Amino acid sequence: MALRQEHIPRGPFNITPIFVKKAKGAVIEDVEGKEYIDFAGGIGVENVGHCPEQVVSVIKEQAEQYIHTCFHVAMYEPYIELAVKMNEITPGNFPKKTFFVNSGAEAVENGVKTARYATKRPAIVAFQNAFHGRTYMALTLTSQIKPYKWGFGPFCPEVYRMPFAYCYRCPFGLEYPVCHIYCADYLEDFFVGHVAAESVAAIIAEPVQGEGGFIAPPKGFFRKIKSICEKYGILFIMDEVQSGMGRTGKLFACEHFDVIPDILLTGKSIAAGLPLAGITGKAEIMEMPHVGGLGGTYGGNPIACRAGLVVLDLLRGELLEKAVQLGEKARDRFLALQRQHEIMGDVRGLGPMIGVELVKDRQSKEPAGDEAGELVKRCYEKGLIILRCGLYHNVIRILMPLMIMDDEFERGFTILEENLKEVSST
Ligand SMILES: Cc1ncc(COP(=O)(O)O)c(C=O)c1O
Repeated sequence: MALRQEHIPRGPFNITPIFVKKAKGAVIEDVEGKEYIDFAGGIGVENVGHCPEQVVSVIKEQAEQYIHTCFHVAMYEPYIELAVKMNEITPGNFPKKTFFVNSGAEAVENGVKTARYATKRPAIVAFQNAFHGRTYMALTLTSQIKPYKWGFGPFCPEVYRMPFAYCYRCPFGLEYPVCHIYCADYLEDFFVGHVAAESVAAIIAEPVQGEGGFIAPPKGFFRKIKSICEKYGILFIMDEVQSGMGRTGKLFACEHFDVIPDILLTGKSIAAGLPLAGITGKAEIMEMPHVGGLGGTYGGNPIACRAGLVVLDLLRGELLEKAVQLGEKARDRFLALQRQHEIMGDVRGLGPMIGVELVKDRQSKEPAGDEAGELVKRCYEKGLIILRCGLYHNVIRILMPLMIMDDEFERGFTILEENLKEVSST
């Protein structure tokens, strides 16, 4: 830890002070031999669990053959095979094309580049509470100021921000369902007062907002947004970097909303922890940028693509079914706890992508950020790694591996419950 502090800047933050020796399934062991149940999965990169044997085996096999030749220099099959699979499994019954990059932020950058190129329009509309990454365009699209944007401006031009369907704290002070999802209809007004629809290349949204607080909009929200997009020739980009790859109990969260994006972005769990992200979209859109306009040295590294192919096989096996059951089990537990603890203002999410918003009291809904921080700390001390999120850092979220064993889930939840009681009563 002393060396970490001496040689690495404080900017790259740490949620726990532990150093890992090994990780398997949903358990992390630190260098001192202490075990932790992992409800964080490396911030959602381990949907298939830490180090599944099949993934480890293809990583070894691929490393023996070749590690990287750069797709732009000498092509290789795993890249093609994974692109074919992504084009098959992503929603939309139309020809698609996919290319790969290294991180979620880079996928966002390339989604935006492609949309601007294809539409010849400059503007991008993003949502309040959005998180899209830390590179400059991704950071511009991100909504939360502290800590992400603070001190890093100026940001990119031509980004506009719409309110999101955050029903627990409706930006319009309305209530679902009597609101008829006014926040989506408001897009038409937005085009009058903020940016002309014909200047907008794309609207980008997370189907379930991740860092912004695990906010799942009402079912009809995205259908309305998408149909307004269609009316004005605006592309609809879904950022599934956190919500995709089975996290919500479906392969992609947008499937819950019956909307088909023009461009779908993937990352995080796509390669079981290896750096890989994808941009998948309608073939005619993806084909627009000229040769050499897109790419990067490491994008679609063969080891990561091999891992990605195994992840897709695992997800299309029993894991999705397990994810649905896990979601139901976790939701029931949280709802039962909510009946006992005033501090649990809102339990929400889709499938096993569940967040719990902590508040000082349910009337005022004053965010209980310090209590959420205390809960995360106490849980870690007792052997459970769990994360918080939300604009006010007051949302506890679970991103546990979807294959978590029943007894590990039990151990983790027991720690969470005990410490929730203590935090609620302090
Ligand atoms: C929805 C979403 N988009 C993009 C990103 C950025 O991904 P990365 O950290 O791999 O750049 C994240 C990361 O949390 C995310 O949750």
